[in-house]
Amino acid sequence: MSLSLAEKQSFDQQNAESFAERIGQILDSGAVAVMLSIGHRTGLFDLMARLPPSTSQRIASEAGLSERYVREWLAAMTTGRIVQYDPVRRTYALPPEHAACLTRGGALGNFAVYAQYVTLMGQVQDRTLACFETGDGLDYGDFPDFHQVMCEDSNQTVVAQLFDTLLPLVPGLRRRLEAGIEVLDAGCARGRALIAMAERYPRSRFTGYDLCADAIADATRNARTNGTKNVRFEVRDLTHFQERERYDFVVSFDAVHDQKDPQDLLRRLCGALRHDGVYLMQDIGGSAHLEKNLDFPMASLLYAISCVHCTPVSLGQGGEGLGTMWGWETAERMLREAGFAQIERHVLPHDPMNVWFVSRKA
Ligand SMILES: C[S@@+](CC[C@H](N)C(=O)[O-])C[C@H]1O[C@@H](n2cnc3c(N)ncnc32)[C@H](O)[C@@H]1O
Repeated sequence: MSLSLAEKQSFDQQNAESFAERIGQILDSGAVAVMLSIGHRTGLFDLMARLPPSTSQRIASEAGLSERYVREWLAAMTTGRIVQYDPVRRTYALPPEHAACLTRGGALGNFAVYAQYVTLMGQVQDRTLACFETGDGLDYGDFPDFHQVMCEDSNQTVVAQLFDTLLPLVPGLRRRLEAGIEVLDAGCARGRALIAMAERYPRSRFTGYDLCADAIADATRNARTNGTKNVRFEVRDLTHFQERERYDFVVSFDAVHDQKDPQDLLRRLCGALRHDGVYLMQDIGGSAHLEKNLDFPMASLLYAISCVHCTPVSLGQGGEGLGTMWGWETAERMLREAGFAQIERHVLPHDPMNVWFVSRKA
């Protein structure tokens, strides 16, 4: 690289070298993230958490996978400092402290679930590049794995916390659910939260709407398999949602910012509530101001998901493409403008990436 004199004078060689080193670390970590996703999907992390230190042959055989691929994955996991390798015995071990955040039911949650968003971004790179050229959007169908990954994500942040943490945000709600009320989940996808509530509160009636037929088919199948009778799912484009004063409790979990018109949807959801109804909304908790998100947990991952998924799926519906990091300030303003008179905002320790709003009409 040849530099002009002015550039030579202002060029900080040490700064440039440490930045290049950081880029190298980022590339390495990105590759580890893809391998974390593979470890999750294959069940290798769950298996290794149960096994004593084992050879690649034993791990592959217990997993029913090809040893050659498992060995190469183990090498990436070893150099990534995820797995420990004993070169004398040629065994690999997943320390319990690592298993705590990389396995299903891990004590600290399962971060390998989120690694799947990294691989999902790679799957749609060509389509995303085309969007950069045209400014067009994408369709949910362009992301083959999206609803599976989203379902695993919300099983951790929503379903697992529903009864102990989330529903108690609304005082008196449990009593009303036990007595029997009408509940709507707007953008319910695979509907696991709604099914869990329906099973717990058999006197209440639960409705889930979502744009995506495959997600609704999965939700319906799951409810049928569980024999849950008081829940129904329907493919519905919420852009045209028009049900006045019909529900006592409306929820949306991470389903407003990527809509075609979030403000209009919030107005419609407010209108769908009875006078004493409550709306519980989970959405991404970053700020609307980029400079305030520098230290927000996994902010780059969220902006990247926004660039590749949330912004294009909103634009693809002819929407404004607010993006994942539309900001809690925007959300709060839109709730107010939608007609909610009381709005409470909560940030919960188990879920620092999201914000929870409890809103009432009166
Ligand atoms: C980020 S996902 C969240 C899904 C689910 N609530 C969860 O927590 O797993 C957003 C959901 O909103 C749905 N959605 C987006 N636009 C919609 C629209 N116009 N009408 C109905 N659903 C829509 C998507 O299909 C998707 O399932």
